Amino acid sequence: MILVTGGAGFIGSNFVLDWLAQSGEAVVNLDKLTYAGNLNNLATIDGDARHTFVHGDICDGALVLSLLQQHRPRAIIHFAAESHVDRSILGPGEFINTNINGTFALLEAARAYWSVLEAGEKAAFRFLHVSTDEVYGTLGPNDPPFTETTTYAPNSPYSASKAASDHLVRAYHHTYGMPVLTTNCSNNYGPYHFPEKLIPLIIANALAGKPLPIYGDGMQVRDWLYVSDHCAAIRRVLADGVPGQVYNVGGWNEMTNLDVVHTLCDILDRQAPKQGSYRDQITYVTDRPGHDRRYAIDAGKLERELGWKPAETFESGIRKTVQWYLANQAWVANVQSGAYMSWVNKNYANRETAQ
Ligand code: NAD
Ligand code: DAU
Repeated sequence: MILVTGGAGFIGSNFVLDWLAQSGEAVVNLDKLTYAGNLNNLATIDGDARHTFVHGDICDGALVLSLLQQHRPRAIIHFAAESHVDRSILGPGEFINTNINGTFALLEAARAYWSVLEAGEKAAFRFLHVSTDEVYGTLGPNDPPFTETTTYAPNSPYSASKAASDHLVRAYHHTYGMPVLTTNCSNNYGPYHFPEKLIPLIIANALAGKPLPIYGDGMQVRDWLYVSDHCAAIRRVLADGVPGQVYNVGGWNEMTNLDVVHTLCDILDRQAPKQGSYRDQITYVTDRPGHDRRYAIDAGKLERELGWKPAETFESGIRKTVQWYLANQAWVANVQSGAYMSWVNKNYANRETAQ
C-alpha cells in the first residue's frame, strides 16, 4: 500500500481516484482538511475498503510515524501543502509551517520508518515529493524553458517554501541515502480545482455574472497541464524513476492568462449561452505583487527516460473541465462557504479596477 498526504485537495484527490481506478493497491490518505481539503472530492470512493482516510497534520511527526508503522506503506506520495500564491503574499506563515516544517516532520518520520526496514523493503521504498515549476523563478519571453538543472530562484513566499522543501528532500537522499524522487510540475487544471485559482475562479465568476479579474495586463504566461496527466506522470516516476532524481512535468502548452480567459469565455458562450458574451465580464485589476511573468517547462527528460507525455491537449482538457464545472455546480456552491467569501473579499477588495 501507499501513503498519500494532501489527498483531499485538488491534485491529491484526483491522484487517489486515478490510483484506485488504475491499480488495486490500497491508499492511506493523510489530510488536515484545511480550507482547500474537501472530502466531497472523494465521494465516489466512499466505502471503498482500499481507501483509508486519516484526518491529521503532516507536522505531527508522531502521528505520521505511527501511521507508517501501522500500515507499512511501500511509498509516500507527498502532496500536502499550502498552494495558493496570493494567500502566501497576504499571509506567509502557514506556508512556512506546512511546506517547510511539515515536509521536514514527514521526512523525519519517513527516515525513522525506512531506516529499520529489512534490506529488500528498504531498497524498494520511495518518498515522492510533489513540487512546482515556480521554484525556478520567472522567464523572459525568449528564454528556454525550465529544465531539471535550472538554478532555483523562487520569487513568492509560496515558491520559496516549496524550494526549501525540495532542498530538504534532496538532502535526505544525499545525506541518508533515502530513496526520494521529486517532480516539478507546471499549472494543473481539471475537476475539483478550488475556485481561488484562475481557471475555476473564472468559470465560477462567469456563471455567477461576476467580474472576471485579470491581474495587470494579463500577458503573463503559464504552461497548463490537465490534472490526470500529472497523476499519470507521478505514477510513471514512482514506478521507474531513479532515486535522487528530479523530473519536470509539463504540458508543452504555454498560454497568456488573457488567452486562457478568452478560451473559457468562448466555451461558456457555446455551452451556457447568455445575452452577450462572457468576455464582457473581463475586468483588469491591480497586479499580483512580484508576479512571475512566464513559466515554461521542458518535460523532455520524463519523456526520454520514462516514456511519459501528456494525453490531453489544452483544447480537449479545458472542454472537459468546463463540462465538469457545469455538471458540478453543487460542488462549487459547497466550497464557496463563508470562509471562501472572506478570502475573496480580502484578495480582491483592495485591487483597483483598471477598466
Ligand atoms: P490544494 O491546496 O488543492 O490541496 C492541498 C491539500 O493539502 C489539501 O487537501 C489540504 O487540506 C492539505 N493540507 C494542507 N496542509 C496540510 C497539513 N499541514 N497536513 C496535512 N494536509 C494538509 O493543492 P494542490 O493544488 O492539489 O497541490 C498539491 C501539491 O502539488 C502541492 O504540493 C503543490 O505545491 C503541488 N503543485 C500544484 C500545482 C497546481 O497547479 N495546483 C502544480 C504543481 C505542483
Ligand atoms: O506553476 C505551478 C503553480 O501553479 C502551482 O505551484 C501553484 O500551486 C498553483 O496555484 C499555480 O500557481 P499560479 O500562481 O500560476 O496559479 P493561479 O491560478 O493563482 O494564477 C494563474 C495566473 O493567473 C497567474 O499569472 C495569476 C493570474 N490570475 C490569478 C487569479 C486568481 C489572475 O489574473 N486573476 C486571478 O484572479
